[in-house]
Amino acid sequence: MTPPARPDPPWALLAELSHGCPLRCSYCSNPVELTGRDSELTTEQWAGVFRQAADLGVVQTHLSGGEPLLRRDLTEIVAAADCAGIHTQLVTSGLGLHEKRLAALTAAGLRSVQLSVQHADPAASEHIAGARSFAAKERAAALVRAVDLPLGLNVVLHRANLDALDDLVELALAWGAERLELANTQFYGWALRNRDALLPGRDQVSRARERVERWRERLAGRLDLVWVVPDYVDGTAKPCMGGWGAVSLTVAPDGTVHPCPAAATLPGLHAPNVKDHSLEWIWHESTAFNLYRGEEWMRDPCRGCELRTKDFGGCRCQAHALTGDATRTDPACRLSPDHALVTDLVDTLPRAAAPPYIYRDHPDDRSPVPGHP
Ligand code: SF4
Ligand code: FES
Repeated sequence: MTPPARPDPPWALLAELSHGCPLRCSYCSNPVELTGRDSELTTEQWAGVFRQAADLGVVQTHLSGGEPLLRRDLTEIVAAADCAGIHTQLVTSGLGLHEKRLAALTAAGLRSVQLSVQHADPAASEHIAGARSFAAKERAAALVRAVDLPLGLNVVLHRANLDALDDLVELALAWGAERLELANTQFYGWALRNRDALLPGRDQVSRARERVERWRERLAGRLDLVWVVPDYVDGTAKPCMGGWGAVSLTVAPDGTVHPCPAAATLPGLHAPNVKDHSLEWIWHESTAFNLYRGEEWMRDPCRGCELRTKDFGGCRCQAHALTGDATRTDPACRLSPDHALVTDLVDTLPRAAAPPYIYRDHPDDRSPVPGHP
């Protein structure tokens, strides 16, 4: 088996505009080592990225971070992506979004907004975020709806908010969201440090899953409910990123390009940078994008498994994080010889009292929020 000679073009680009962020969430899946603000790509460099991405086939970009609103040139960045013919979605905490700014972003071509929420209860939400933020989120949601942009809410689910599922759905309806993404925590980057505090038990997950099904029946499409699977608990490998180097690229704040947002920790990747190479070369030729493309890299049991064309052997970053070897079957899969690494955690951690969160630190943050460590 060899990697495809000419991979299909990518259609999505995750643009991590800045790792800076006013929130300090324990579940953050960004790398432990963040890129400093002084290493971020310039406006012109981002414009070049979008032009090349469009030529390559990209039709959609998530402008993300960290917090993209920290970029003073966000309006110019949105305009550059829109001018290249790429659909833009802003992925934000909502802090820093005000009426004038949103008007400018909308005029520049912004098409939709995805707002993070940590809990439906303000105090619980701010405890999870490690920052005063709930009122700003509520204001941001109202502003987005007032200019008639599609609004999605994104909630990372874990031990402290899975039981609030009904309240979260009610909140999404009250705030006028069209979509609610219920994303069970993925244990990469900073989130892995907080796994003991975040990992839910099987019962808690199954109660929440039932609630989601009931809401789906009851709402009959009024709110798009997306459930991102808790792979540790389910015992199934997720089709991470739709396959390695198969549909999307992630550009980090300093221009490093990865096949997925967590790949920075993988050995042997030689991650390329847009300052040194064209996106076209990066997508087709780079070691990073070809390393786990296709099936050649797979070992047993993936190699002979029928599901390999559906889940692509699961997540390479998770295999590496748990076993030290990115070529092994994702331990989340119940067929993996390493599956006990996951089941042991799911069987023990949620029974113990949750330790305090290790809040995310941002090297450039000079204004810690009062009341949080
Ligand atoms: Fe997927 Fe590999 Fe598990 Fe089969 S053995 S289900 S291909 S992760
Ligand atoms: Fe990197 Fe899954 S997050 S392959």
